[in-house]
Amino acid sequence: MVAATQGADLFAAKRWGSFDRYSSVSYRSDTHGGRLVNNYGNHIAGAAYGKYEDVARMPTGSILAKDSFVVNGNGTVSAGPLFLMEKMVNGFNGDTGDWRYAMVMPDGSLFGVTGGKNSAGLQFCHDCHIAAEDNDMMFFLPSEYRSR
Ligand code: HEC
Repeated sequence: MVAATQGADLFAAKRWGSFDRYSSVSYRSDTHGGRLVNNYGNHIAGAAYGKYEDVARMPTGSILAKDSFVVNGNGTVSAGPLFLMEKMVNGFNGDTGDWRYAMVMPDGSLFGVTGGKNSAGLQFCHDCHIAAEDNDMMFFLPSEYRSR
């Protein structure tokens, strides 16, 4: 997975492999295509993301990553997209709470990024994440899968 996303010309896509992992095991996310997923955060996100529901606003420079994969009927594993949320500087995008969403396809190509390529195609990310506005657009992960 890490190697596959290196082609996307996006800092977070190149670096997420070194992030801290917040999921104890991979869990199924119905909101991300029913795939198995993990959650990661960079060191800037660290202390804040780990507060979960008690967090107010994430610090600028926080990057959250969610990789995804599917276990096929014959036991083989197929990589799914990489989902990214990056907290930009104040004023980057008032509509998204200054979050930049991005999705990187399993072949390493960038599907879209807020404010860049195919920005409109990523609107659906925020349309759902806005429901977590009280937690700075974050849903975290189900408590039973939290490793921190
Ligand atoms: C239909 C609702 C929905 C959509 C659409 C959606 N998400 Fe999420 N997202 C969630 C939920 C719920 C969680 C936490 C639980 C889980 O993973 O199932 C989450 C978690 C995340 C996380 C971990 C950070 C956090 O919130 O704690 C990232 C990163 C993320 N989503 C990125 C994206 C991106 C990028 C897109 C669009 C390509 C997207 N999401 C589309 C509902 C959604």
